[in-house]
Amino acid sequence: MEKMTLQLDRVYSFVSPEEIEEMKERLEAHNLALQEKTGKGNDFLGWVNLPSSISASVLADTEETAQILRSKKIEILIVVGIGGSYLGTKAVADALSDSFSHLKPITNPLIIFAGQNIGEDYHAELRDLLQTKEWAMLVISKSGTTTEPALAFRLLKQDLEEKYGKTEACTRIVAITDASRGALRKLAVSEGYKTFVIPDDVGGRYSVLTPVGLVALAVAGFDIRALVKGAVDMEVASGRDIPFENNLPARYAAVRNLLYRKGYGVEILVNFNPKLHFFSEWWKQLYGESEGKENKGIFPASVDFTSDLHSMGQYIQEGERKLFETVISVQTPDRLLKVPYDRENLDGLNFLAGKRIDEVNKMAELGTAIAHVDGGVPNLLITIPRLNEYYLGQLIYFFELACGISGYELGVNPFDQPGVEAYKKNMFALLEKPGFEAETKAIKSRIQA
Ligand code: PA5
Repeated sequence: MEKMTLQLDRVYSFVSPEEIEEMKERLEAHNLALQEKTGKGNDFLGWVNLPSSISASVLADTEETAQILRSKKIEILIVVGIGGSYLGTKAVADALSDSFSHLKPITNPLIIFAGQNIGEDYHAELRDLLQTKEWAMLVISKSGTTTEPALAFRLLKQDLEEKYGKTEACTRIVAITDASRGALRKLAVSEGYKTFVIPDDVGGRYSVLTPVGLVALAVAGFDIRALVKGAVDMEVASGRDIPFENNLPARYAAVRNLLYRKGYGVEILVNFNPKLHFFSEWWKQLYGESEGKENKGIFPASVDFTSDLHSMGQYIQEGERKLFETVISVQTPDRLLKVPYDRENLDGLNFLAGKRIDEVNKMAELGTAIAHVDGGVPNLLITIPRLNEYYLGQLIYFFELACGISGYELGVNPFDQPGVEAYKKNMFALLEKPGFEAETKAIKSRIQA
């Protein structure tokens, strides 16, 4: 079978192959610590063996639930969630969807997200749309207490009940949350919703292969078994017995840490396929929340090329020299489209006539990589044969494991996110949430001063 590859030769003028090989012992130890659950944050390592341990009954239940919702002829599936309860699903759904599916006749329910922001206009406009559509809703929150999704769910639950009546609305809501804790679990039990459990030992940003991602993706008609199979194959290909020389996630983690030590503090995830835009958003959350702590960590950024070559390209080529790039390249597109011949050739493009559009894209990719390396930007290249469920599954597990290994090499706990609490505390204080009286007083004195 064609394989996902990691090409490192365009970093060798920045870190030598010898420097990379010197990382072997340390990174194998980090991988072992993850596999044996002996390192930092070891109560959140359920994702390490998640792909291979997803139970047949969870998969069957997921598919059955998806079938029940689909049988209601829904046009839209609202997925309420934020952060790890949103980005993985969005990343996979966008990568696999027709770019214009929202404007074409419906073949599968469209996923639309809510509660991933607190936009009043966004949610008001969504409610307008839903009045004219057949819809159902997943509400996803591991903690079950996150404000943004709770707010959106309160709004949309009322709309759903108004449209279909309370009893039918209850059959159109699925809650995905902690097994026992949190307001969402309590609400779901009290209303009698169908529920799925997010395992205790899987944190939000590592949860796309749990019901958090799988249920919505199954409703939207994607092949979740192929997604899981891709992840399982990467799990096997990067397990404890796989030496550093052949272990792609470990090698990626090694190179990015070596670059970081040499002053390359910003990693840009690059795609040449607009369908991967939200894959980069998922990746940014994974790496930003996992590594950005204790005043350290590579800043994860992203660009969509060639679009952003006409905006960010200038900075990347000639701005401050602290950037490196990791390119995700899709070897073969699904569709075949060639540049037509034009007898008049007024645009001067006949030198491209007969070539695939993707050949032009690939030359842009190669030309950009060479230019950026010449300009002082190390370039890592990940290639997947096709953009499908199977290779997305491989990519997801590849980046998750690499993130754990990389975080350990950096010396942080990659599985907590204490910094996320700071804004929440201030927001609750400003909104005068009961229980935050002292914080309210303190913050008001600061803003009045
Ligand atoms: O990775 C994480 O843990 C976070 O980004 C969460 O996914 C995010 O804050 C949403 O949390 P919850 O699912 O508890 O609503």
